[in-house]
Amino acid sequence: MRLTCFITTLLVFFLFAPGKVAAEPKGIEATAAKNKFQKPGFDKSAFTEEDAEKLAIVLKQWGVSIAEWAKKSIQGLLKKSAIAGSTVEIAIGHYASLTGPLAAFGHATDDSIQLAVEEINAAGGIKGRKIRLITCDDQGDRREVGNVVTRLVKSDKVVAVLGEVASSLSLAGAPICQENGVPMLSPASTHPQVTRQGDMIFRTCCSDAFQGAACARFAAEYPQIKAKSAALLYDKTASYCVRLQESFEKKFVELKGEIVLIQTYEEGTEDFSAQLKAIRESKPDVIFIPGYDHDVANIAVQARKLGIETPLLGGDAWDSPKLGKVGGKALNHCYYLNHYSAQDPNPRNQEFIKKFSAKYKKTPEIMSALGYEAIHILAAAMERAKSMSGKEIAAEIASTKDFEGVTGKITIGTDRSVHKSAVILEWKDGVPTYVTTIPPGISN
Ligand code: PHE
Repeated sequence: MRLTCFITTLLVFFLFAPGKVAAEPKGIEATAAKNKFQKPGFDKSAFTEEDAEKLAIVLKQWGVSIAEWAKKSIQGLLKKSAIAGSTVEIAIGHYASLTGPLAAFGHATDDSIQLAVEEINAAGGIKGRKIRLITCDDQGDRREVGNVVTRLVKSDKVVAVLGEVASSLSLAGAPICQENGVPMLSPASTHPQVTRQGDMIFRTCCSDAFQGAACARFAAEYPQIKAKSAALLYDKTASYCVRLQESFEKKFVELKGEIVLIQTYEEGTEDFSAQLKAIRESKPDVIFIPGYDHDVANIAVQARKLGIETPLLGGDAWDSPKLGKVGGKALNHCYYLNHYSAQDPNPRNQEFIKKFSAKYKKTPEIMSALGYEAIHILAAAMERAKSMSGKEIAAEIASTKDFEGVTGKITIGTDRSVHKSAVILEWKDGVPTYVTTIPPGISN
């Protein structure tokens, strides 16, 4: 123990001693290493194993006989300590629902993030350092989000965090990242409050203000619907659903539509017959259901059984193969807003679909596209950043402009959100089919 203290003191002395105390080392490499350590505001995260080698040269030149020993100690320390994760490799965290009701979202996102990490590392990493991705299962549970995000930022010392898909879960993780000065990028959380948690919190997709308004405009103006009245059915326990129905309602009323009935349910509801019977009585032209896939599938099947033929309309959380499979024909004449269409010929998109399908033997769904895009935006920002400090990385994420993403050109706005067009898709026998594009600029 005492010996370790002695070595550490010695090292600290050599690392941080002002230039004039020690004699100048010989050799370009050694000088570079010494300058790096003696620089004011020395960035520990830039300290690599290779640096340890270089430092050993410096120490040897200074005639210190413990040089080799010191080098081994540093390398040992590096391997064990959290700094190792951010030096030899750069640690990036991802929190996702790998189990629980939203597990399909978590896997879809993590698959594409892993694919992107492989690509980035194969191309030489970030500033020559490989990315180490640490994915944590938050079980789709707000409390568990607290545990895993705290672990990522405090113990794993990740330089940035990706997550979550569901807004309620991002809202649980964001304050922890903000407090610890670690940038967080949600690939898919559309609730406006997510990015309002602070200047470290970003989303790389549109927000619900746009999404709800775009759905309302589509319902009111699309020739096959031209809705004058709407009923709403949403999960009052999920932030995403609450906010989306609010922004839909606001825009629909603004467009002179009438909300004839509002019905709610809670997470875990399986039987929607009471709500659906009430909606049937209110005879709306459209039913807006901003829910997650599992609930929407049940609602669609039960609605059709009750003889409701009215078109159903929803948001981005409808983009799920599970929904298409369970909902099947019950979803015919139902529409939803999405961040992109797999049929979009944009070469970035098509290239991504090809790579993803080759690796996972399935077509990517929206969360995969958004996750892939998010980590590439982050990696590009990290590459531009002067250091791996949270502040520098956040500043570079904020300055993202015209980034050629899978879902289109991404520019991060002053609200740390993305403003771009979206598409409306229609379910046809369980297959999402492109209908139209909604340009940006429809906001509340
Ligand atoms: N936008 C949803 C939310 O904020 C998440 C989501 C995005 C779900 C895309 C599915 C697809 O909770």
